Amino acid sequence: MAPPRPPDPAAALLQEAVALHRAGELAAAAARYRRLLAREPRHADALNLLGLVFRQQGDLPQALRLIRRAVAVAPDAPVFLAALGGTLAEAGQLPEAVRTLRAALARRPEDAVSLRNLGQALCALGQPGAALAPLRQAVALAPFAAEAWLALAHAAREAERLDEAAAAAGRALEQPGLAAELAAQARFLLAALGQGPAPERAPAAYVRELFDQYAPRFEQELAGRLGYRTPGLLAELLRQYGVPAEGRLAVLDLGCGTGLSGRALRPFAGRLEGLDLSPRMLAEARRVGCYDALHEADLLDFLPRHPEAWDLLAAADVLNYLGDLAPALGGMAAALRPGGLAAFSVERGVADGYALGPGLRFRHDPALLRSLAARQGFHLVAEAEVVLRREHDAPVPGQLMLLRKDRATGA
Ligand SMILES: C[S@@+](CC[C@H](N)C(=O)[O-])C[C@H]1O[C@@H](n2cnc3c(N)ncnc32)[C@H](O)[C@@H]1O
Repeated sequence: MAPPRPPDPAAALLQEAVALHRAGELAAAAARYRRLLAREPRHADALNLLGLVFRQQGDLPQALRLIRRAVAVAPDAPVFLAALGGTLAEAGQLPEAVRTLRAALARRPEDAVSLRNLGQALCALGQPGAALAPLRQAVALAPFAAEAWLALAHAAREAERLDEAAAAAGRALEQPGLAAELAAQARFLLAALGQGPAPERAPAAYVRELFDQYAPRFEQELAGRLGYRTPGLLAELLRQYGVPAEGRLAVLDLGCGTGLSGRALRPFAGRLEGLDLSPRMLAEARRVGCYDALHEADLLDFLPRHPEAWDLLAAADVLNYLGDLAPALGGMAAALRPGGLAAFSVERGVADGYALGPGLRFRHDPALLRSLAARQGFHLVAEAEVVLRREHDAPVPGQLMLLRKDRATGA
């Protein structure tokens, strides 16, 4: 009988690391992957998996560096190509993501996750029609994955296949044990398709995910292709109505995103803080460096917790993710000092209330907004009808509003 083989310490270490990784113990798993790499620097699994830990922690440059090293060691292994493609897509490097995911799928055609990532990357590249085939395949292979149904629903909506979009969102909703966040997204999508009542706001998880994905290419796309102008227009309105651009005000930029609005507001601010739901948008804003502090928060939770803290609150292209604006205006009234200013944009439309548009953003009726604002103790200082940006080659009509909080009542 052959003597038992001595245990392979590298295999044992990898096994232990993977178990910790699966249990969500990222730091402990990373420490073991590193130990393994110290012994075997070209261990492709350890390189890839350590890269995936970085991806889960949101450090995409480090994740890409490590996964690329795994691909360099084993260029034909579909598992590493799939991980690289998914991470590139998350980092907004879309053309390379599409090439890499196609290479992975050429070697492993029935990889439902890569099919979904490919579809989502094509959709993000503005090719929803091309996204449909891989997404249909993804749901056929993994019919219980609600995320894949939702991705198909989004792509079909963008490709103007509205029946398919509604059917796919419906299938997402049918999945047993569906997470509440995914259910809210499916209902939101159905409402935008005219099937079901409009909710009071876009689900926070949907907004966070949307802008996390958008963050790496947001500025290029918005300022470039979409001709986005809201931050500059809001700053112009402030100047026009005599708000001194002398660097003296305490300013909070609500939904600050990557900091386009912060740069426009900076001349007014002695102290400029930014707030956003999306950690990746905030990471971009941090890199720009025009804020004195940044907060990851929902504006509806944050404002009431900071009474009378600011002279100026701004929200450029943010309130269109909320339907009922009464809570946001109430929060602004609470967070402003008496006599403080709120400056924001909304997408103009619908009479008598708000409606969810096909672009998954809300449109508001300026007349209703004026009466809501008055009820919260605001005076209307100024408003202007503007074009906020272009969408599908058409102008998006908007309304800018500048409100002053009543000094006397301290509303
Ligand atoms: C279209 S971007 C505009 C970013 C920036 N204000 C600008 O003008 O470039 C909208 C931003 O609002 C954020 N946002 C939407 N709803 C929010 C909420 N309820 N609380 C905090 N941030 C929100 C999104 O995460 C996103 O970064």
